[in-house]
Amino acid sequence: MFQKKKDKLFVTDDRLDSVAVIMDGNGRWAKRRMLPRTAGHVAGAKNVVSVLETFRKIGVHHVTLYAFSTENWKRPQEEVDALMNLIYQYLDTVVIPRIRDDGQFSVVFLGDKSPLPEKLREKCIEVEEMAKGRPFICNVALNYGGRDEILHAANRAVADGHKEITADVLSSYMYTSGSPDPDLLIRTGGDLRISNFLLWQCAYSELYFTPTLWPDFDEGEIMKAVNDFYGRKRRFGGLDKEEEQTE
Ligand code: FPP
Repeated sequence: MFQKKKDKLFVTDDRLDSVAVIMDGNGRWAKRRMLPRTAGHVAGAKNVVSVLETFRKIGVHHVTLYAFSTENWKRPQEEVDALMNLIYQYLDTVVIPRIRDDGQFSVVFLGDKSPLPEKLREKCIEVEEMAKGRPFICNVALNYGGRDEILHAANRAVADGHKEITADVLSSYMYTSGSPDPDLLIRTGGDLRISNFLLWQCAYSELYFTPTLWPDFDEGEIMKAVNDFYGRKRRFGGLDKEEEQTE
């Protein structure tokens, strides 16, 4: 179990340093309220700040959010445009002031920025350039696909003259290069799949699925996921110490 400090704040240890989240369920959240899907994305974006704050408060240093996949372009143009605008607004009005006023926080985008609307692409670069390598890093997967990332990394390694592609070489060409692999992958919204997210990096991540819709995924829900994680035995393909002794 994880530690409880005097001030009753739960704090993770180095077993839980990196968390990835598939933020699913915005559309259904809106539908249940008879609202348009875009209202669900607005509620989802609002929830991003409090979720990041909670993770930071409990001692997690890397959070990777799946904001827009390479497949999400298939959605109606109206929804794609609304998402692009929302992400732009969020970066401009919430993220930039945060990075400026809080010395602890930096943002990295994972994915190919070139198909993004120019205004958003420039905003992403501005956000990345504002601060690098701070203690709390939020990776935002935007126009991201796991297969796409692996192919992109392999092609770049070959183009750079690598004759043999080892795991370390490939990792160094990933969008996530330099970030630890997720210890825990959370998916909200009830579906039990990974949807092309961090395929390489999640090889040994613990998976946690919850039916809770993303806009409702609050501190209590985070704590359920964290508690569940601390109940798991991670063996990374090896054996437990106890299992070794009984051999
Ligand atoms: C999935 O819900 C959610 C998305 C495709 C978009 C996620 C985006 C946000 C939470 C907003 C902005 C994010 C940032 C980082 C500022 P869905 O639409 O597939 O929901 P459904 O399965 O209920 O239809």
